Amino acid sequence: MTIPPRFLDELRSRITLSDVISKSVRLSRAGREFKGCCPFHNEKTPSFYVNDDKQFFHCFGCGAHGSVIDFVMRHDNLSFPETIETLAMQVGMQVPKSTPEDIEKAKREKNLYTMMDDAAKWMEAQLRFASNKVPYNYMRERGVPDDVLSAFRVGYAPADMQALRKYLTAQGYTDQQMIECGLLKLSDKGKEPYAFFRERVMFPVCDKRGRVVAFGGRVLPDHLRAPDRGDFKPPKYINSTETPLFHKGKMLYGEPHARMAAVEGQPIVVVEGYLDVIACFRAGFRGAVAPLGTALTEEQIFVLWKIIPGESKVPVLCFDGDNAGRRAASRACERILPHLKPGHSAKIAFLPEGEDPDSLIKAKGADAFMAILSGAMNLVDFVWLDHTEGKLFDTPEERAGLSRTWQEICARIADRTVQHYYKDALREKLRGAFSPAQAAQSQPNQPWRPLSPKGKWQGGRFGKPEPQPITALRRPSFTRNSLFSMALLACIINNPEIFDEVEEEFGHLQLSENKLDRLRQAVLSTLGRNPELDGPALRSHLIEQGFEGELESLLTDSLYTHASFSRPSADAGLVLSAWREAWKTMQMVIAQAELEQAKIALKEDLSEENENRLNALREIRTVSDS
Ligand code: UTP
Ligand code: MN
Repeated sequence: MTIPPRFLDELRSRITLSDVISKSVRLSRAGREFKGCCPFHNEKTPSFYVNDDKQFFHCFGCGAHGSVIDFVMRHDNLSFPETIETLAMQVGMQVPKSTPEDIEKAKREKNLYTMMDDAAKWMEAQLRFASNKVPYNYMRERGVPDDVLSAFRVGYAPADMQALRKYLTAQGYTDQQMIECGLLKLSDKGKEPYAFFRERVMFPVCDKRGRVVAFGGRVLPDHLRAPDRGDFKPPKYINSTETPLFHKGKMLYGEPHARMAAVEGQPIVVVEGYLDVIACFRAGFRGAVAPLGTALTEEQIFVLWKIIPGESKVPVLCFDGDNAGRRAASRACERILPHLKPGHSAKIAFLPEGEDPDSLIKAKGADAFMAILSGAMNLVDFVWLDHTEGKLFDTPEERAGLSRTWQEICARIADRTVQHYYKDALREKLRGAFSPAQAAQSQPNQPWRPLSPKGKWQGGRFGKPEPQPITALRRPSFTRNSLFSMALLACIINNPEIFDEVEEEFGHLQLSENKLDRLRQAVLSTLGRNPELDGPALRSHLIEQGFEGELESLLTDSLYTHASFSRPSADAGLVLSAWREAWKTMQMVIAQAELEQAKIALKEDLSEENENRLNALREIRTVSDS
């Protein structure tokens, strides 16, 4: 979508920035501006300023800065076009479309969207009617409180085959539209079209922008349904068919909530059913999503990766703890492997046999589910386990066979870097598995077991994974930060012409290694004295001061591969914006990781110690912010 700049200007000018921001941030007046606590990093004292005249926000703590569009993109985790559409809708502007057909299509879809929304509203109201106490009580008995029912817009489709049709007709929608969206079915006996969903608890499926595009409906349990139906046993769930608005393989139930949660650093967790998503949400795992009655598709995997901000995109996929669950996990891995990219992966978690997240949380509490997530295996470990568990590798031929299988697995990974590391992982695993120590452990003629990671597969089922420290879900903040900070340092050494612009941030840059920090200080003082130095001249100054070794270990191809902006470059303008971008990202990663860890710790264990830690972290952040 190309959007004319004039349109964007007009859009920005029609929106009052502080109105948008104050929906999620408490703002107070500060002269001509507003201030509040920055939503992009954790702080106690406000350093986040909003200027309506200049139409931008700025955080003096983390450097977050931008227009209303930047704010909504980042805060609501939306793409640029999605943001434009959302904002335009709020002020009643029509995003320019290129062709008349586009406009026609957009108009038609708009009507379908509002119809689906009206249908959802109607069903929500039905669930609240006194005459529909039975389904309402059923949901309450299943442990879904009112606010969660509302958050997911759970509703009820009554038995009356014409009720929804009558209502929507009165709202001005046609049968044709209701059929197109799967709300009505044509009668094959020549009668009136009738409601597709009847006597079902209704779960609206929303797209990433929160628009209702489909429904899933659950029957009431037998004892709550009117008798006298003969032998027919209706399916437990029925779902909308594919419609112009709904492509089930591309969508995930719970996506809008999960997007928000992901921005706040919550793990994205894939569960199986509607009520699992809702139970997770209730228990505080707001990053839960479910595919819609099918196995996870490739497109859904891409959606998962897109939802997660930052560089480390690792959703946790939960499977049943039975053989079917394990097969499903294998198939999911098969689907993911070809698409792995640096930072893009998944973890695999298995539930205790016979439980789904909903039942587990109900029976054993949120902690039990947390323990399952924490015990999740890395993809590489699961793939290894999947191909070795229960097999014998006593002879050279058997080992060669394993090695061949692994090569085939690696060959399916399109990304060369990831492929390379998968090969490495095999070498390491083979070394570990076939080492003398391991060989001595394994009994002759017993199926050989690999050194399995957390949660051992035992005769076709996983034992309860021992509760792990929550490291499994933590972001590798230390490693990533040191990569970021090294790249930021290298970038200045290679491109000192931007130093002037970023001197202050550079002065605060923290490096995890002392010798690199000494190098940073030398750069600061050298450029302070000789601001005109270019890259090569600066490096020879630094070498004269005895930093040859440090430079050599810092300025490596590997660093340039991970952070290409740190290379020597011709275009100072580009380097500068890349440096600032990386700095901002690093600040966000640090803030998020710290807060997330402290929050998780506190949730796990409501001890005074953990609470103090969370508070102390906030303190430290505030001090370092100001
Ligand atoms: P489950 O049978 O595990 O149901 O189906 P559930 O989610 O645990 O539901 P409760 O707890 O019994 O109410 C898992 C998911 O598979 C899809 C639905 O998306 C469901 O949430 N499904 C299941 C169907 O689409 N049709 C069915 O008939 C059954
Ligand atoms: Mn269930």
